[in-house]
Amino acid sequence: MKFVGQVSNLPHGKQVGQVGNLPHELLEEREMDLAITLDQRSMAPLNRQLYEELRKAILFGRLKPGERVPSTRALAKSLGVSRTTVTQSYEQLLSEGYLRAATGSGTFVGCQLPDELLKTAPIETSPPMAQTRQAGSTSSFKLSSYGESLTDTVPFEPPERTAPIHFKSGCPALDEFPLQQWRRLMLRHCRASDSSLLDYAPDSQGHEPLREAIANYLRRARAAQCDADQVIVVNGSQQALDLITKVLIDRGDQVAIENPGYLGARRAFLAQGARLLPAPVDESGIVVETLPVKSPVKSPTKLQDEVKLVYVTPSHQFPTGATLSLTRRLDLLAWAEKNGAMIIEDDYDSEFRYGSRPIPALQGLSNSDSVIYVGTFSKVLFPALRVGYVVAPAPLARVFARAKWLADRQTPMIEQRVLADFINEGHLERHLRRMRTLYEKRRQALTRALETHFADRVTILGENAGMHLMIKLRSRWSDEEVVERARGCGVGIVSARLYYLGGSGRGEFVLGYAALSERRIREGIRRLAGILN
Ligand SMILES: Cc1ncc(COP(=O)(O)O)c(C=O)c1O
Repeated sequence: MKFVGQVSNLPHGKQVGQVGNLPHELLEEREMDLAITLDQRSMAPLNRQLYEELRKAILFGRLKPGERVPSTRALAKSLGVSRTTVTQSYEQLLSEGYLRAATGSGTFVGCQLPDELLKTAPIETSPPMAQTRQAGSTSSFKLSSYGESLTDTVPFEPPERTAPIHFKSGCPALDEFPLQQWRRLMLRHCRASDSSLLDYAPDSQGHEPLREAIANYLRRARAAQCDADQVIVVNGSQQALDLITKVLIDRGDQVAIENPGYLGARRAFLAQGARLLPAPVDESGIVVETLPVKSPVKSPTKLQDEVKLVYVTPSHQFPTGATLSLTRRLDLLAWAEKNGAMIIEDDYDSEFRYGSRPIPALQGLSNSDSVIYVGTFSKVLFPALRVGYVVAPAPLARVFARAKWLADRQTPMIEQRVLADFINEGHLERHLRRMRTLYEKRRQALTRALETHFADRVTILGENAGMHLMIKLRSRWSDEEVVERARGCGVGIVSARLYYLGGSGRGEFVLGYAALSERRIREGIRRLAGILN
């Protein structure tokens, strides 16, 4: 690659390296024009700055997938920095999947980039033209880095496609919801001539009787250690993730996430400018020993390896369905305490376990304030309700309540009051018991149908829990072809690829079963087998 390292000290202490005219020994390499700006006087180490510059170049398409990048020696020479500086930046980019190394032939921009998923907000104040043009309707606006992070075209969740038999994950059996009961409670509250119902709530943290009801329920059902003062009622767990990120994460902070993992969490972290650290998941959940340990000495050159936050779904890992073992739970808590990290415990569908007893929530096992617990009524009741909750460590509860005020002042009051009654009058647990029985039967119908039709060509992953399962399917078709062929026969299934950072998950699919009758489940799998076998 031909490139010139012209490094000049600018009056304000910046160095600009122009990857352009080249030393002779590199003439066999293709010319690459790439402006890199390093600021000698910045507090940020040079390797960190270089890492950010290269990552931006990749994300904004200035470096294309598959394109070869300069050798460490050539780039170091061009920029007038040490080779170690360049090597450290490259190593970080390699570990995050932006670059890939091919033995003997150099280092290249990754082909299967985590780019669209990992697209953190750029640091530039004015987005590059290519980027704004691509964004289309945003072209005349100067977006904030938060806004920039939302301009790519990668969906936040698997594309919504209707299919007569749709194995949609995360959707409860809505036709089984006791709507009569809900309507009765709604009417009760609307009829009561209490105009305070229509006013701003006195407290952005949530309706107190509802917070009491949630705290009671969590102490009983999840062995959580909490009282109502720690509960903040939010508009679904997505808002919980958004507020937690805003309150705890600064641009550039490192957040560890399960890989594969939940896109809603990942996107919230990215929008806040977090650096993502994908942590592998096995049949016992997140592999805690892969999480970095804080170095006792702060090195000015080494990229900061501290993790500020780790996001986990311990009851039923999304999407693999693994349950975080008790040993791993204790290890994770010990790791967080030792490394000064916070844990987000997303307990989105913990209520659905069939057979085995639930393991207590991480929050309840912790002796410190390192766990923020997040729950939702989207799965146990219905997602359009948009009610979830955060159980915050006591010292953080007021901060979260104020963040909630800033976001939207409060969660709608009629729904909060109705929900409090729904829980206190026993309807929630009654509905839950019914759904547990129903979903267990649906799950069995699905696993049996898969075994019958696919035999040893399918592996069913995860615990006997939740509302979806993940499968590994051995077939001669690509994942896209499997999804398309399924669609062609009226069956909707989702490839797990989207949930992976760094391109993996081939042959893996997520099948939601809670919203489908046993008959439709059997029919769906029969059709699927018909077109794949
Ligand atoms: C892992 C995970 N967390 C949370 C949620 C629920 O989000 P919400 O409460 O915002 O509806 C989902 C929904 O599918 C999920 O899969």
